[in-house]
Parts: sequence; C-alpha cells; structure tokens
Amino acid sequence: MRGAARTAAVAATEAAVATDPVDVRWDGMLVNARLATLVGDAGYGVIEDGALGWRDGVLVFAGPRTDLPSLPHALASDVVDAQGDWITPGLIDCHTHIVFGGDRAGEFEQRLQGASYEEIARAGGGIVSTVRATRTASEDELLAQSLPRARALRDDGVTTLEIKSGYGLDLENERKMLRVARRIGEALDITVRTTFLGAHALPPEYAGRADDYIAAVCEWLPVLHAEGLVDAVDAFCERIGFTAAQTQRVFESAHSLGLPVKLHADQLSDGGGAALVAGFGGLSADHVEYTSEAGVAAMKQAGSVAVLLPGAFHVLRETTLPPLDAFRTHGVPMAVATDCNPGTSPLQSLRLAMSLACTHFRLTPEDALRGATVHAAQALGMSDRGRLVAGQRADFVRWRIGQPAQLAYWLGGDLLSGVYAGGRAITTDR
Ligand code: NIG
Ligand code: FE
Repeated sequence: MRGAARTAAVAATEAAVATDPVDVRWDGMLVNARLATLVGDAGYGVIEDGALGWRDGVLVFAGPRTDLPSLPHALASDVVDAQGDWITPGLIDCHTHIVFGGDRAGEFEQRLQGASYEEIARAGGGIVSTVRATRTASEDELLAQSLPRARALRDDGVTTLEIKSGYGLDLENERKMLRVARRIGEALDITVRTTFLGAHALPPEYAGRADDYIAAVCEWLPVLHAEGLVDAVDAFCERIGFTAAQTQRVFESAHSLGLPVKLHADQLSDGGGAALVAGFGGLSADHVEYTSEAGVAAMKQAGSVAVLLPGAFHVLRETTLPPLDAFRTHGVPMAVATDCNPGTSPLQSLRLAMSLACTHFRLTPEDALRGATVHAAQALGMSDRGRLVAGQRADFVRWRIGQPAQLAYWLGGDLLSGVYAGGRAITTDR
C-alpha cells in the first residue's frame, strides 16, 4: 500500500513539475554528484554529472543533470552542490546483535590461546556470558552501552539497521533488548528493524529442558509482537544452539502471527538449516558456511537471500567458505552484514564487512556494495530502499572517494561527507 501510494505521489509530482515547476517544489536536490544507483542487475548503475531530488522523504529524481525538467533552483527549495562526491544508497546492515551488555575480549584472548568458540560455549561462556551482562543492565544502561556502536555504523553510512534480541532469554529481558533497539532508531534517525531471537541459546535456568524453553519462547513471541517490538523471527540452529525440530516450532509460531523468518544456518556444521528456513519461505539464511548444494537450491526456490557474515568468519579464523560458486550458479542473491556482536564479530563498520567479503569470499567491490544495499534490503523484505531511483526512500550517502570500489578498498578511514535519511541530513555534512 505504502509503495503504491508513493509511486502515485511520485507520478503526480513529476506531472506537476512538468506543467508548473514553481508550485510543486522538491524539498531538496543535490547536483554535481556522481551517482552509483545500482539500478539493473549488474554494474554500479553509474551516472556522472548526476542530480538527485526528493520530496516528502522520497526520491523524485535520480538521473543526469541534463535530464532535469527545469533549472535546479526552479525545482527545489534547497539545492546543494555535492562537489563531485559519489552518492550511493544508504547502506543497510541486515544482521546485527548490536544491543548487548559487557564485552567478551577475554574470550578473544582464550581463543588466541587455542580454545574454540564451541568449547567456550559448552563451558558456560559464549552467548550465555553476554546474557548475564545484558540481564544485569537497566534499559537505560543497555542503551548507553549499545548506542555508540550503532552510531559508529551510521557514521560509516548505515541508514537501515537490523537488530536482534537473544541475550535476554526471558520475557522481560528480551523485551528490554527490543525496546532499546527501537530507541536506537529514534535516537539516530535511522530505520531499525527488530528481530526476535529468543531461540539463540539455552539459558541456565532451563538446563536440560530445551523443549520447555522453546515452548516458552513460543509464548513470549505473541506478547512481544503485540507490543509492536517484533518485525521478524530468527533462531540459532546448530549443535550448540537448537535442533531443526525446535527451530521449526519457533518458525510455526512466527508464521501463525504472519511474521517473516530468517535463520542462523549452517554456521559451524551442516544442520540443513538453509533448506529448513527456505521451507518456510524465509527472508534469508545467514552465515551458511557449511550449507550444501541442496540447501542452496532450496534457497533459490524460496527466494531466500544468503547473508554473508565475513566478520564472524574472520574472527573465528574459519576456513570453510560459504558455497559462493553455488550461490552464483543458482542465482541466490548475496547480502553482506556486520553480525556486530560481542563473541564472533565485534565489527562496527559495514564498509569493513564489505572489505572482508572481498578479501575472504572473493566478492567484487561491486558485489559487496550490492550486498550492503539492494540485497540487504531484500533480506529485510523491504522494497522501498536499496537503490537510487525515483519512488525509493531518500536514504543516501555522500562519499569523498574517486571511485565506488574505494568503499570496500579502504580498511576503515573517514570517507563520508554526509548521511541522509528520508531526505534529511542526519550527520553534519563534513
Ligand atoms: O551470529 N552464532 C550465533 N550468534 C552469533 C554469535 C553470538 C555470540 O557469540 O554472542 C553469531 O555469530
Ligand atoms: Fe548472528
């Protein structure tokens, strides 16, 4: 409905501009810009000497300056000279656990001395140790700890951010995490999509009673959903997580509420997770290092996106690569995300995730940008963003770079001139 309404609004605006440019002014316009629109199935969709115009938070023009229907100042109240900056769609981080208490730098040291992620988890560390720190923090404390991480992502170009629960593992603390996620969106002027990940790990009070815990998770879900806190549902299907049967129960609850699902699938072993989530028409299967070709085929069939998380691959010093050739052959879109979390991926830059995806997974810089925009939007089930084209949300980033490949080339660094969400500058232009 919103998409249709917007399209109609854009058409009306364009028609009005054609007849009477003075009366229907755009809210803003960038000129002297180089656009990487990502329109089309391949390439950056480059427009040199481009212009971008928006109205009511939506793009009404993205094209060559020479195609503008009138002079810039006749069209828009506010015309900004982008000084040759490159403009991309706002980056979309479609998989994070950015809300958490404490940190796990000690485990990082343990792993460097030879302990594995799985061993640490089985010994009572890992996710459960973050659960302790997250439960202890008040909502305000949790926000204070998490907000700087989300701000770091935004200040490196992220305008849409997915945030999972999963370190509360009881109703009250899962609620607290999801409320903090919503507050991050408000505080930073970005879009936050929340994901309920109650089935992340077994909390100590349910030791030996995983099925009972899953039953509780399925009871909490409608409560949190009714409070407007849940946009999607995820689970950790793994030897140290939950079984396929338990995951399925969580997905059935999600489906009964009309909520989309996604999955931490085949991260440490092939548990058939990709095929399982595809069977539920899932938005995405994430990690997928150990996914089989049959899993890839099932994803293609279901239209599920493969969310690559090179930060976790890198930090865990994983050596098994996701089935990248199979994703390409079957035409499964690949998204790239930070997985920002205290255990496997303490990564606070989506651009750095793009860089790691190029180095470890041999994505091209263009694949990586598509993975952090167009395909990430698809992984969130959002069709109103991810490209620079009239009718899409006016979320975009100005970069001080000579070519788009630099976004994945620099490891860190400050490349940004400004971030815009819904047509508003949400960082101070630099
Ligand atoms: O995406 N594998 C499960 N979940 C996270 C790690 C969470 C943690 O270790 O705190 C991941 O890797
Ligand atoms: Fe994750």
